[in-house]
Amino acid sequence: MSLHRIALTVNGENEQVDVPSQMTLMQMLRDKLALTGTKNGCNAGECGACTVLLNGEPVNSCMVLAVECAGAEVLTVEGLSRDGVLDPVQQAIIDHGGVQCGFCTPGILISSRALLDRQPDPSEDEIRQALVGNLCRCTGYLRIVDAVKDAASRQRAMAD
Ligand code: FES
Ligand code: FES
Repeated sequence: MSLHRIALTVNGENEQVDVPSQMTLMQMLRDKLALTGTKNGCNAGECGACTVLLNGEPVNSCMVLAVECAGAEVLTVEGLSRDGVLDPVQQAIIDHGGVQCGFCTPGILISSRALLDRQPDPSEDEIRQALVGNLCRCTGYLRIVDAVKDAASRQRAMAD
């Protein structure tokens, strides 16, 4: 099995990783970098539990080869907080009780962060659309949607 050495940025840190040709970004994050917040739900591009930001765009990391990420910037759930302060979407989902089993939560948080980065004042439809690829079997989404709305207003207040 041939290994490829790739350099990339993960959560702001420069990393060099030796990856087999067929290794996915999800496997690399979990198995090579011990970033196990990125979850393996289906390994088939259907559940969104493995969502990360790749150059600022949300992707299912189980559907991206690690070798394709040479030179890329990746953000995982572990990179959302800054200096011990939770991202507004993290704090809001806690405050609104939007976490039950928690398996979907990292992907939900990353998709929500991507939404708020491009649309700081999203409508409910825009929030639901942004989360359409993130399956949650527990919450019914209501509390998650409320949390994202609240995170957006907290973020706008912080920006004022
Ligand atoms: S684990 Fe990647 S979409 Fe389900
Ligand atoms: S909280 Fe359990 S799948 Fe979403």
